[in-house]
Amino acid sequence: MAIFQLPIYAAFLIGVTLPASALEDTFVAAVYEHAVILSGATPTLVTPKDALSLMNKNLDILEGAVKAAAEQGAHIIVTPEDGIYGWVFTRETIYPYLEDIPDPQVNWIPCNEPKRFGSTPVQERLSCMAKENSIYVVANMGDKKPCNSSDLKCPSDGRYQYNTNVVYDLKGKFVARYHKYNLFASEIHFNYAKDPQFVTINTSFGKLGLFTCADVLNFREPAISLVEKFKVDTVLFPTAWLNTLPLLSAVQYYSAWAMGMRVNFLAANIHKPSLDLTGSGIFTPEGAKVYHFDMETQNGKLLLAEINARPRLSPTYPPPVNWTLYASSVKHFSPESQVFGGSIYFDNFTFTELSQEADSHTVCQKGLCCHLSYKMAEKRDDEVYAFGVFDGLHVIEGEYYLQICTLLKCNSTDLKSCGQRVDMARTRFDFFSLSGTFNTSYVFPEVLLTGTQLAPGEFQVLTDGRLISNGISKPVLSVALFGRWYEKDSPHPLYAFS
Ligand SMILES: *[C@@H]1O[C@H](CO)[C@@H](O)[C@H](O)[C@H]1NC(C)=O
Ligand SMILES: *[C@@H]1O[C@H](CO)[C@@H](O)[C@H](O)[C@H]1NC(C)=O
Ligand SMILES: *[C@@H]1O[C@H](CO)[C@@H](O)[C@H](O)[C@H]1NC(C)=O
Ligand SMILES: *[C@@H]1O[C@H](CO)[C@@H](O)[C@H](O)[C@H]1NC(C)=O
Ligand SMILES: *[C@@H]1O[C@H](CO)[C@@H](O)[C@H](O)[C@H]1NC(C)=O
Ligand SMILES: *[C@@H]1O[C@H](CO)[C@@H](O)[C@H](O)[C@H]1NC(C)=O
Repeated sequence: MAIFQLPIYAAFLIGVTLPASALEDTFVAAVYEHAVILSGATPTLVTPKDALSLMNKNLDILEGAVKAAAEQGAHIIVTPEDGIYGWVFTRETIYPYLEDIPDPQVNWIPCNEPKRFGSTPVQERLSCMAKENSIYVVANMGDKKPCNSSDLKCPSDGRYQYNTNVVYDLKGKFVARYHKYNLFASEIHFNYAKDPQFVTINTSFGKLGLFTCADVLNFREPAISLVEKFKVDTVLFPTAWLNTLPLLSAVQYYSAWAMGMRVNFLAANIHKPSLDLTGSGIFTPEGAKVYHFDMETQNGKLLLAEINARPRLSPTYPPPVNWTLYASSVKHFSPESQVFGGSIYFDNFTFTELSQEADSHTVCQKGLCCHLSYKMAEKRDDEVYAFGVFDGLHVIEGEYYLQICTLLKCNSTDLKSCGQRVDMARTRFDFFSLSGTFNTSYVFPEVLLTGTQLAPGEFQVLTDGRLISNGISKPVLSVALFGRWYEKDSPHPLYAFS
């Protein structure tokens, strides 16, 4: 299948060549959760002048965050996907917001040469923010590329439109451009990048890689190869992520991905609580360093943390995990457990109820068996927990193959509510150990507490694939081993009919 042939697009590697002594062991990372000012409730065609006026309002706020981050010593700041113009668009109405973004090989500091590539006011402002504050700036904007009938795939309106991440270095130089490969279903105003792009940047604080939003969930590429083949130390991740409890809220999944892939992950989300958009953070292979989840206020939020520049060289770098070692070596626990069906985000799980204060269970679906041992601090009458398994292709809003083992709180005491959205819990766990017979080595360990809080340092992944805890400070919403079996994915939409 075409999408697994690598590398299709030659990654361009731009780096400042520095003597070894200038390499930093740690760096200060910043991410900004931005309460974007939207273009309006419905798609409306505006003039380029009005488009720029809206973008300037957002850029004013982002500039404040860039300045504040630089003042606090940050080397780099990541801002969200769609953070400059929002998302309520058709192909036509987004057009006035787009700029032609050249290949970074042109060696360009837009702040110094603003007219070199025509009208590029957004690129100029981003470059000036980086230059004036001596900080790497990562942003997301729209690229337009004219095409004609000499290209058989050229859209009928004569242009490609790409959801694009851009990066400027401390001098304001344009150093990286990434076109999003995994568009979300609602992104009808953009085209898919023709191939996955593997975009990396060498810096004194490690090798950085770029991708965005659904790239971390849908197809294998470019995310997995950036980590495994290109060996990036830190992923720069602008996102506009709608929280989907109980397994796919932003901070929960990003923290798990950073731990499962053993890489730093700088995620900047949009802040729009009315649409369930919140959840940003600085995540490392050891867990969340700092994160933000706020459904109460309408304010943006700047987060900073000092992290390892090259986590693979750190003494605390976690060892590789064999995700099946423990699970495939044990006998099934309590094989007589009563099971029932339930759905999580349209996937049909097989569940069993945790009816005792402490117990062990095994539940299986297709080729995946999940084992759980647990002890609650107290079995409450007003809360029901279930243990579930899913082994199958997810088919709504993207097609991707999942293998999941999860312990979660049900929405109510009715077993039919197990797997529905749930926000708060009161039951504490003194102990749990979760494992599964995964057919993939891409397994992301999630622990989510009441109020969408994470539990860094309160649980461990053992090298034999067990996710364990000997006590968690707050009540538990869900614990999961979230597996992605990429080989069983559907083809990318670009190749589905070829
Ligand atoms: C980036 O760094 C790697 C090794 O760390 C090196 O092999 C590569 O040549 C560098 N690229 C550039 C453009 O400096
Ligand atoms: C069509 O596009 C190609 C490649 O972008 C360009 O070289 C060519 O000049 C264009 N032809 C016309 C008629 O615009
Ligand atoms: C993990 O352990 C299983 C069971 O011992 C073994 O068959 C498998 O080869 C191991 N996988 C890896 C990637 O080492
Ligand atoms: C999931 O279960 C429901 C209800 O039993 C059924 O209607 C639906 O077709 C199932 N979905 C899949 C993908 O199997
Ligand atoms: C879950 O329960 C809450 C009340 O606790 C309710 O408001 C919500 O609609 C329920 N969610 C679903 C998906 O049923
Ligand atoms: C998946 O793993 C299970 C348990 O380790 C094994 O029985 C099964 O054959 C595997 N399936 C595939 C298709 O590899």
